[in-house]
Amino acid sequence: MTGTLLGSLDPAWSAADPAALSPGHAVRLAELETLDAALAALYGRGASVLAGAPDAGALRERHTALLGRERGVVTLALAELPKLPPEQRRARGRGLNLVKRWLGEVHDARREALEHEREAAGALDVTLPGRRPWLGRPHVLAQVRDELLDLFHGLGFSVYTSPEVELDEYNFGKLNFAPDHPARDAHDTYFVNPEVVLRTHTSPGWVRAMEELKPPMRLVFPGRVYRAEATDASHMDQFHQIDGLYVDRNVSMADLKATLHTFARAIYRADLPTRIIPIYFPFVEPGVQMDVQCVRCEGTGRVSDAEGEKRCPVCKGTKWVEVLGAGMVHPNVFRAVGIDPEEWTGFAFGMGLERIAMGRHGIPEIRLFLENDVRFLRQF
Ligand code: PHE
Repeated sequence: MTGTLLGSLDPAWSAADPAALSPGHAVRLAELETLDAALAALYGRGASVLAGAPDAGALRERHTALLGRERGVVTLALAELPKLPPEQRRARGRGLNLVKRWLGEVHDARREALEHEREAAGALDVTLPGRRPWLGRPHVLAQVRDELLDLFHGLGFSVYTSPEVELDEYNFGKLNFAPDHPARDAHDTYFVNPEVVLRTHTSPGWVRAMEELKPPMRLVFPGRVYRAEATDASHMDQFHQIDGLYVDRNVSMADLKATLHTFARAIYRADLPTRIIPIYFPFVEPGVQMDVQCVRCEGTGRVSDAEGEKRCPVCKGTKWVEVLGAGMVHPNVFRAVGIDPEEWTGFAFGMGLERIAMGRHGIPEIRLFLENDVRFLRQF
């Protein structure tokens, strides 16, 4: 009988003295001995393997083997009772019910002990990695924007914001774009309707500022702009600019150069060579472009890598990288906003934030800015 009862209990199972879990263990065992040696053996072995279960999974497995509702040893033995001769049935039934109740108690005690062990271990395990709170940070473009706003704040410029959905008249007309001038085509424009566009640059902010405020004024215009361009590694149909505008009496090209020079020294290496070359924009006259020496090839136009020497992929061999457009505010722009160009003068500039961030951090792909992949974002 003992063999049959113990047969389904794995002899390899770890055992432990159940006395700690069940203070009455010895008494219970003795009581069973007097009743039925096989049941005493079953209870003794069962209680030991329950007490010795190393973890919750093992405990569950052993509980199932002993007391499982379908195939548990005790359950099966109870189901056999009706087959026993009546004189044996009573004692056997009583013994089995005791085994069932007491094993259940040892099981519950072991489960509780394991839970406590787990909690205590959790509280004390100083080798577990800490739970680091998810800390956000400003987006790399916001960092560049804020740094620029700081810099221009120091030069006396305040921030002026204007809408992303803009009148065609402000985006182009009052900025001296003739109705059919080809310069409009260069700004591949998203139209909302024939009079309303998504602004293609932040320069329409000047028009709004000059209509609202009286000169002198020193303002910067940060914001998002849109161009219906095909997307590639360096083009997206939305990006960010900061324009600057200074209107006062006797503003000169020298003031513009000094401001741009201060900008370049602060944002790039202090000794990075820059150049200013003429270029056409309808809203400035004269118009210029500022370039900085290419950081990738250090102004040589050539780079070498594992495959050998080749044309610099950043400046395309030109040795220079364009960073901004600028110039003296065109008299027609002043006239369009009701400012007398005989009395007032001004300079303006506009730069792209993505280009500055890419140059500075060596970011090869403009689309990364908008993908919101934290593996990218957390590098800055
Ligand atoms: N608005 C121009 C652009 O987006 C840049 C610019 C600003 C040029 C101010 C000159 C002066 O291309």
